[in-house]
Amino acid sequence: LDNGEMRVPPMGWLAWERFRCDIDCEHDPKNCISENLFIDMADRLSEDGWKELGYVYVNIDDCWSSKKRDENGRLQADPKRFPGGIRKLAHYMHDRGLKLGIYGDFGTHTCGGYPGTTLDKIKIDAQTFADWEVDMLKFDGCYSNATEQEKGYPLMSKALNATGRPIGYSCSWPAYQGGLPPKVNYTQLGEICNLWRNYGDIQDSWDSVLNIVDWFFNNQDVLVPAAGPGKWNDPDMLIVGDFGLSMDQSRSQMALWAIMAAPLFMSNDLRTISSEARSILQNRMAIFINQDPMGIQGRRIIKEKSRISVFWRPLSNNASALVFFSRRTDMPYRYQTTLSKLNYSTGSYKIYDVFTGKTMTLKDSTGFVVSVNPTGVVMWHVSAPAKWNLRQFY
Ligand code: GLA
Repeated sequence: LDNGEMRVPPMGWLAWERFRCDIDCEHDPKNCISENLFIDMADRLSEDGWKELGYVYVNIDDCWSSKKRDENGRLQADPKRFPGGIRKLAHYMHDRGLKLGIYGDFGTHTCGGYPGTTLDKIKIDAQTFADWEVDMLKFDGCYSNATEQEKGYPLMSKALNATGRPIGYSCSWPAYQGGLPPKVNYTQLGEICNLWRNYGDIQDSWDSVLNIVDWFFNNQDVLVPAAGPGKWNDPDMLIVGDFGLSMDQSRSQMALWAIMAAPLFMSNDLRTISSEARSILQNRMAIFINQDPMGIQGRRIIKEKSRISVFWRPLSNNASALVFFSRRTDMPYRYQTTLSKLNYSTGSYKIYDVFTGKTMTLKDSTGFVVSVNPTGVVMWHVSAPAKWNLRQFY
């Protein structure tokens, strides 16, 4: 969507995967969906080095609202859990150089059963979000059908634009239509949304990450051309720092989300996150690769040779990123190849290993070995003194 927003993939924090629809503030005040949770996360983002790296969105998901609209038909925050209201929360973010995202649903109800936005409510809800000075809307699609969605998602895009406030627009529409053409029109999505969920919800497990990775790379021929500045495929939240991933698997998620030019919305508890998980999420080179201004989504260039897959993303200034990913579950595997086998043209390249910080120079024809841990990655930033040859890919 050409609204000037999200020219690089948005980064921040999103409540859903970790905090779900916990509304029991009486017994679980620290973790329930309330203004305190978002204030806590905002404090962590601004005090623990996240904001400077680009993690600026603090995003509310489902279960924030009151079960009823107000007497003017407007959505309203649950008065007990958000006594200050959403606008005050937005100001809290803006005062700290952060942004606030909110959640709505095109349909009769949200997925969690809260008031949804039907066709007749689109304008008023867009205006409400703008009045609250919200910076992003995730527009879910529970409780509406394909025909309705075809009207509703473009209309919300128009309605947000008509408020005059720049609001990043995340559309769950394609996920509800199976994520693929002909049901999903990626040209149209790129015109009306800044990002979109294509596929199912992430859960806190390695199985879930693998399942998402497979879907996105099996469908890369459709998805890669759809992405670019202002329009991103969204494989869903980062679960690094939660309970389901080992450290190797956490590096794998970070590396593959960077290759995919994916939005980086963490859903974890920034108050208690381990320093290992934090250092993965705060890896400067992984973020730099994710945020490349050319915004070309990467692809899988080798699918499982000895159960190692290789992923590649072209970057600005003739640079690129490579990820060697192991699906093995036995032992660190010594994968042997050359850069020319990975479609690099003649010349020598400077290699920066993203997770160890080691550098080296490598000629295209020189054989090398990377040792890839089970379910882990080796990730490289490759810069080319020689002219980059895009060969068969672009
Ligand atoms: C859907 C979405 C999730 C989350 C929940 C909230 O399942 O895909 O990301 O927003 O609804 O109920």
